[in-house]
Amino acid sequence: MDNIQWYPGHMTKTKRMLAAQMGIIDVVIELLDARVPLSSRNPDIDTLAKDKKRVLVLNKADLADEKVTALWEEYFKKQGFFALSVNATENDKAKSGKAKLISVLKKIMSEKVERQKQRGRINSPIRAMIVGIPNVGKSTFINQLAGRASAIAADKPGVTRGRQWIKVGGEFDLMDTPGVLWPKFDDPLVGLRLACTGAVSDNVFDKITLVTHLLEIFISIDPAILEKRYKISVAESDNLLEAIGNARGFKMKGGVIDSERTAITVLDEFRGGKLGRISLETVTK
Ligand code: G4P
Repeated sequence: MDNIQWYPGHMTKTKRMLAAQMGIIDVVIELLDARVPLSSRNPDIDTLAKDKKRVLVLNKADLADEKVTALWEEYFKKQGFFALSVNATENDKAKSGKAKLISVLKKIMSEKVERQKQRGRINSPIRAMIVGIPNVGKSTFINQLAGRASAIAADKPGVTRGRQWIKVGGEFDLMDTPGVLWPKFDDPLVGLRLACTGAVSDNVFDKITLVTHLLEIFISIDPAILEKRYKISVAESDNLLEAIGNARGFKMKGGVIDSERTAITVLDEFRGGKLGRISLETVTK
């Protein structure tokens, strides 16, 4: 993992920037990947946002096992977070996460209004910020919350960027730029899982290592995941990667199975949701 040594310097700068912006923020919305909720968390946010209301949004829920995601929501709520699951790419308003988030923000807002009333203050809107590791879907989710028109307007050349706020649900102000934090790589398993979901570069691990890890997880969940997709028998296969390559006809000269091509295919198909909705991390406690 030598090629990720530049992260610490980069993280320090980002953390300083985020800390400076926190003063005007009431709510920190942390986006996680529903397939790997623990690995996609950055523990620095706990420090940066320690005095803020915290909302954990399990994004990409369309790719994760619904039942497992529900358990994660429960798990995080028990720890004192607001938690919800969304699909930031969903166009259907009824199914998107926007309404769910607005209802959580309304709850938080009513508490703030109550506090302000008690102190005899005038009610001010709540300000929220979205943070998360790269590729977790921050921009997509902001676009979903803002609506297409605002997103396009903000991207027009010549439009002043600076600090802009997007009104969500007519009541809440959302900072238009997400806070980007790098994942923690202290635990090699975290890096491995994030590489499997495509959140970090494929180059840190070789593809066979990634797929070997994925295959183990699939087998532990249900061998039928592989049997259905690749028409193989898990029980009768000594080497699953070879069995999949053979089933797909990925053969090189001399009839040798092209493991690299097989690994790339399995990875792409997992990431694209073609193997079904699969969570790589489950609640253990
Ligand atoms: P970021 O700002 O946090 O870095 O993430 P971004 O919104 O750019 O999203 C990263 C990729 O994840 C995008 O795919 C986006 O479409 C996809 N994505 C975001 N939210 C969801 C979701 O809820 N469900 C699914 N299935 N996909 C989601 P992309 O443009 O194809 O990028 P890439 O996959 O080529 O990296």
